[in-house]
Amino acid sequence: MSVDPRLFTLYTEAEVARIAADLGERRQIETRFNYVGAGAGHWADMAAWMLTVDGANRSLRETLALLDVLRPWLLATLDPRRQTRVVDLGPGDGTPAAALLGMLPAGTEYVGVDISAQLLAVAARNLAGRRFVPVRRDFESESLDDLVAPPGTQTVVLLTGGTLCNTADPAGTLRRVAGLMRPGDVLLCGVRLDHPESRTSFALAPGDDDLAPHEQVVLDLLGITPGGYVPERGYDPERRERYIRVRLTASVEVDFGAGRVVRIGRGERVRLWRYHHRSHGEMRALIAAAGLAATAEASSADGQFLLVGAVRGSGPGAGEAADLAVDARLAGEGARGDAGE
Ligand SMILES: C[S@@+](CC[C@H](N)C(=O)[O-])C[C@H]1O[C@@H](n2cnc3c(N)ncnc32)[C@H](O)[C@@H]1O
Repeated sequence: MSVDPRLFTLYTEAEVARIAADLGERRQIETRFNYVGAGAGHWADMAAWMLTVDGANRSLRETLALLDVLRPWLLATLDPRRQTRVVDLGPGDGTPAAALLGMLPAGTEYVGVDISAQLLAVAARNLAGRRFVPVRRDFESESLDDLVAPPGTQTVVLLTGGTLCNTADPAGTLRRVAGLMRPGDVLLCGVRLDHPESRTSFALAPGDDDLAPHEQVVLDLLGITPGGYVPERGYDPERRERYIRVRLTASVEVDFGAGRVVRIGRGERVRLWRYHHRSHGEMRALIAAAGLAATAEASSADGQFLLVGAVRGSGPGAGEAADLAVDARLAGEGARGDAGE
């Protein structure tokens, strides 16, 4: 069957090529593609719901709580004489950004970088009155060079909601992030750590076997309909990732045009979502390997949710300063970081 023509307007040519190659060669659809088009409204609904629930789906509430814990560190680390700019990698509906901007001077510029033009529009509505620069871009594959702070200004990079662990290569993503930071810039990175509870946590009530609407956005566009698959959710201990995938109950032929046809047999599986599970120590190592120094951390009472505050080191080996990380919750107010300048 031919794909829905909207595929070619919602995604760039390179993204459609990636979707076709991933489906053909790796039987996967990268998580980020499901936030586009109809996926934006679904995610916005989900975010609004997450603000009202506890338990397994409390990640957005934890992000807000942990941002608040790191607030004194952030304000002590930033240079009050410099103009501050926020670069948000994957704003979603803009909820964490709104909280962060509330801590910073009015007039702080906010650059939202998202693969989903539709989610950028949602975030723009939720951040009305802010200096919002929307950038429709895939931060995993496209250049971020133009996002480096202009001289005399400083950047706070925001990467929350576990988005880092949804990326294909978290270590590579962090190196890209570090590449757009200069000494004095700050990264706030929020993840859910590996934990017996997080391994079985999905954004649906237990027993609900259907895919959530935002999980099936690309399948719908490819013409792979709910009657033709069975959803599966689980944790793969070898790959150390949580996954949502579908097992096809009938073979399909997806025609992307220009001779690109992907055939998938009955019984084969296609992964739609993944989350790389990392321990606290592994997160610290990832941050250090990217050349960043984690100078503040806040975590939820059960240790599952972690928000790292990191700065760009100014010399070789600066990443090793991660050993100096302090738990802002334990350290209390004003845990001063090594701001570099
Ligand atoms: C899980 S949501 C998190 C939203 C928000 N940061 C939060 O904490 O609630 C992931 C967001 O990142 C965007 N995203 C994921 N991967 C991306 C990529 N490679 N390039 C651009 N945007 C991406 C998605 O479109 C979505 O807005």
